Amino acid sequence: MPPVIEIPAHSSDPRLLVVAAEVLRRGGLVAFPTETVYGLGALAFDERAVHRIFVVKGRPHSHPLIAHVLDEARAMALAAEWPAVASRLIRAFWPGPLTVVVRRAPHVPAVVTGGGDSIAIRAPAHPVARALLTAVDGPVVAPSANRYQSLSPTTAFHVVRQLGETVDLVIDGGACETGIESTVIDLRGRRPRVLRPGALSLAQLRSIAPDLEVAPGLAAVDEDRASPGMDPRHYAPRARLVLAQSSQAWSVARSLAVPPAPVGLVLRYARDDDGEHSAQASRAGDVLVRILGDEPRAYARVLYRTLYELDDAGVTAIVVGRVPASEAWWAVADRLLRATGSAPSRQ
Ligand code: TXA
Ligand code: MG
Repeated sequence: MPPVIEIPAHSSDPRLLVVAAEVLRRGGLVAFPTETVYGLGALAFDERAVHRIFVVKGRPHSHPLIAHVLDEARAMALAAEWPAVASRLIRAFWPGPLTVVVRRAPHVPAVVTGGGDSIAIRAPAHPVARALLTAVDGPVVAPSANRYQSLSPTTAFHVVRQLGETVDLVIDGGACETGIESTVIDLRGRRPRVLRPGALSLAQLRSIAPDLEVAPGLAAVDEDRASPGMDPRHYAPRARLVLAQSSQAWSVARSLAVPPAPVGLVLRYARDDDGEHSAQASRAGDVLVRILGDEPRAYARVLYRTLYELDDAGVTAIVVGRVPASEAWWAVADRLLRATGSAPSRQ
């Protein structure tokens, strides 16, 4: 097990992070909490350490990283151009779960940006993340602290489980508040464009950038689309994840049960349209049911944690009742679809 330092989630005192800062300065990798998910951090200008992030995650070098900074001024220092809309969005949403993609400044190492000429930047809101950025006094690149294509971690325990001793230090700042990754917006074009739906809703973003576009492939909020992608599994648990209509989720779960191993069943509410099945299933004890509620933010907060827990319980499959095809559920629907391995590819 890697060393774990536990720090209360509300701590913003950089003096508590001196050890973590030292590990980073020596070229180490430090997993730390943000308000979205845990990140696997390295100093952005330490090319060897950044390279190690890709190795530890098993992630292709062409997949660029997000640079975490304290504020807009420090973000601008990493960019070659700073469009006016960036300042407007940042004033509204930083610190917070908004990642902006802009042209990168020439001194940003190519290993950070996957060799490309753009850079993704965000200022996290989590007090511990901010304290760490203050303590190191420089940008920290951090992808989600999981193996490539696995579930993002929302607790320090998930990080330890996924990365073990390949990470030099884990800062345990409790469970992440939003539980789903930041929204990524490309600001290089004429109109801002969403590349990854996330913790900020489209409605929130449109209130600041009414001409917001959505990248092709993300346009439909349609969980039924049948377009297997090139990037088959992302945000996936170990167990097979199957989406089912809520009314059929119980019977699908029962049909996938291979006793004595249980099947996981994730629903928004306890109602089921097939009382017979539900009674049988709960009696048989072979279906582990988790009810996450009908409010998208609350659902997102516990989704990954729930999938981790079901995985740990040894389920053979996880059946998830479909979520509504509405904008409020967009990010959750995107992650669920990717977890089944049938989403279109994303950069
Ligand atoms: O909430 C989050 O964003 C978390 C926390 C730790 O900040 N980080 C995170 O990083 O989710 P990662 O590496 O798992 O996902 C970064 C996303 C990927 O979809 C990546 O393709 C996109 O951001 N991205 C990064 N740099 C980019 C760039 N230069 N151009 C386009 N997309 C970029
Ligand atoms: Mg990730």
